[in-house]
Amino acid sequence: MPCLLFLCCTCVWLLVLPVKISALSNEDSDIDVLVLLPEENSYIFSIPRVRPAIDYALKSINSNESLNSGFNFKVHYNNSNCGNQALFSFVERSFQKKPDVVLGPVCEYAAAQVVRMASYWNIPILSAGALASGFGTKKAEYTHLTRVSPAYSKMGEAFGAMFKHFSWKKAVLIYQEDKERNCFFSIEGVYAVLEAEGYHTMTLAFDLRHPMEIEEIIKSIQESDGIVVMCAASNDIRDIMLAAHRRRMTNGDYIFFNIELFNSTSYGNGSWKRGDKNDAEAKQAYAALKTVTLLRSVKPEFERFSMEVNRSLQKQGVSGEDDSINMFIEGFHDALLLYALALHEVLKNGYSKKDGDKIVQHMWNRTFEGIAGQVSIDENGDRDGDFSVIAITDPEAGTHKVVANFYGKNQSFEVQPNVKIDMFIQRLPHDENRVHGNRDTPPCKSSGGLGESAVTGIVVGALLGTALLLAFYFFRKNYRITIERRIQTEECDIGKHRQLREDSIRSNFSAA
Ligand SMILES: *[C@@H]1O[C@H](CO)[C@@H](O)[C@H](O)[C@H]1NC(C)=O
Ligand SMILES: *[C@@H]1O[C@H](CO)[C@@H](O)[C@H](O)[C@H]1NC(C)=O
Ligand SMILES: *[C@@H]1O[C@H](CO)[C@@H](O)[C@H](O)[C@H]1NC(C)=O
Ligand SMILES: *[C@@H]1O[C@H](CO)[C@@H](O)[C@H](O)[C@H]1NC(C)=O
Ligand SMILES: *[C@@H]1O[C@H](CO)[C@@H](O)[C@H](O)[C@H]1NC(C)=O
Ligand SMILES: *[C@@H]1O[C@H](CO)[C@@H](O)[C@H](O)[C@H]1NC(C)=O
Ligand SMILES: *[C@@H]1O[C@H](CO)[C@@H](O)[C@H](O)[C@H]1NC(C)=O
Repeated sequence: MPCLLFLCCTCVWLLVLPVKISALSNEDSDIDVLVLLPEENSYIFSIPRVRPAIDYALKSINSNESLNSGFNFKVHYNNSNCGNQALFSFVERSFQKKPDVVLGPVCEYAAAQVVRMASYWNIPILSAGALASGFGTKKAEYTHLTRVSPAYSKMGEAFGAMFKHFSWKKAVLIYQEDKERNCFFSIEGVYAVLEAEGYHTMTLAFDLRHPMEIEEIIKSIQESDGIVVMCAASNDIRDIMLAAHRRRMTNGDYIFFNIELFNSTSYGNGSWKRGDKNDAEAKQAYAALKTVTLLRSVKPEFERFSMEVNRSLQKQGVSGEDDSINMFIEGFHDALLLYALALHEVLKNGYSKKDGDKIVQHMWNRTFEGIAGQVSIDENGDRDGDFSVIAITDPEAGTHKVVANFYGKNQSFEVQPNVKIDMFIQRLPHDENRVHGNRDTPPCKSSGGLGESAVTGIVVGALLGTALLLAFYFFRKNYRITIERRIQTEECDIGKHRQLREDSIRSNFSAA
């Protein structure tokens, strides 16, 4: 009797089983991708701009054995705007169904919240943005974030390599505040590397509400004798360069850098040109300016990709008049590819798509073939960055060329052949003794004093030391005042709001 019952049960079970399996696999055969980006096309990483790149990546994944795990990728797009909306969209969407992977957000303050939440939920999150240095602290709070575009600190490495290569000692970092604080975070990346390597840095900020006082900037540059690194709107860069030129600071005495990562096509050839009466002067001034930008690599498949994305953008009526493929569009394509690669490997090892931490592990510390060339993700889950320095090589025509490259993976800075190296040599404008006599002497190094009388020596030494210390202190204080005044006036306006926003990324940039 029990035997019959058992058989019966087995029969029923066997009948039910296939249904069960197919129900299970139906639900489980989807990879739910949530893309959180702004809908607004004024952002160069808006949903309409990035969508064609993601479509392209999906096609590659579906047609390639080593990327296709038999899953059906379902992509949902939700508006992130550039702030809190990102978190709201993410949470709201997750009430219906938690996504398996998140792509985006790009804006720093939007990303901070979403990345924390995704990490808590064990969901891998990949972004071509979130470039601020704060996101590098993965262990502490951004555990599941993989950054597929080079972060600002990677650009900082490029400056670090240049400072070492040319034995530069000091830097003046100048940035413009704006709503998204891109320049603040860019300069922070440079600051972090230069400070850590012991270079003397000074920082100056200006913004729209406090119009740039060119005099003040020029004076600070002259006082510091440092390498000038700027991040600002192109018109402001031009104004600074014109002012510097009129004070004869562009004849090799100073070296100016301009950071332009996302909009590189608008730089380079003719970026000094405005069609106004200052063009001739600006062309001369720009001979002293170098621009740091992303290294562009191109391979045949990239051409196909650009054409397809371009066509799709035109169909949607999104303006693509300048370079339609930027770092973000390229990055999100590569992000989906990287996720598919990691997923495939993780499944092969017997885990499931829900093992977010395992998938994240497989995305880090590896290289893979991206749409524009090889992509190397470091041990911390951040892409290594390759950067180019472009400069005017024909002063008559005012045309630019790539004069040097920095490769992040091997930390190698390489000047192009046939480039005159003196464009990187700073000729100090002032009398060396005057400048260095009261500034660079370390106050504690006053060891001169063991002459005839040791006592006199020590007393004199002590007095000298104190005097130097005081001088040094007041000098530093002066510096601080210039810098902090600007920072303070700014904080009065935005006050706690900005403070809060700053805290939410844990940016460790300090301006003194
Ligand atoms: C499939 O993807 C792998 C990994 O990215 C790549 O090495 C290979 O060339 C691709 N194959 C085809 C046919 O595209
Ligand atoms: C987010 O996506 C869901 C489902 O795809 C949709 O219903 C909702 O309207 C979207 N919200 C926004 C703000 O785009
Ligand atoms: C890119 O540069 C052009 C020309 O300088 C400018 O009009 C445009 O607003 C810039 N775009 C972005 C996203 O910064
Ligand atoms: C994209 O389209 C624009 C015209 O809308 C064209 O000028 C540009 O060359 C195209 N780019 C590519 C890569 O095809
Ligand atoms: C990264 O990969 C290299 C070899 O590819 C290995 O030696 C190293 O231990 C890995 N690092 C981590 C943190 O897994
Ligand atoms: C600038 O134009 C010159 C000549 O037209 C060209 O050789 C050079 O590659 C261009 N440089 C950049 C950075 O586009
Ligand atoms: C660093 O890597 C780049 C690109 O991968 C390569 O061209 C260059 O030769 C390397 N430099 C050194 C010193 O290994």
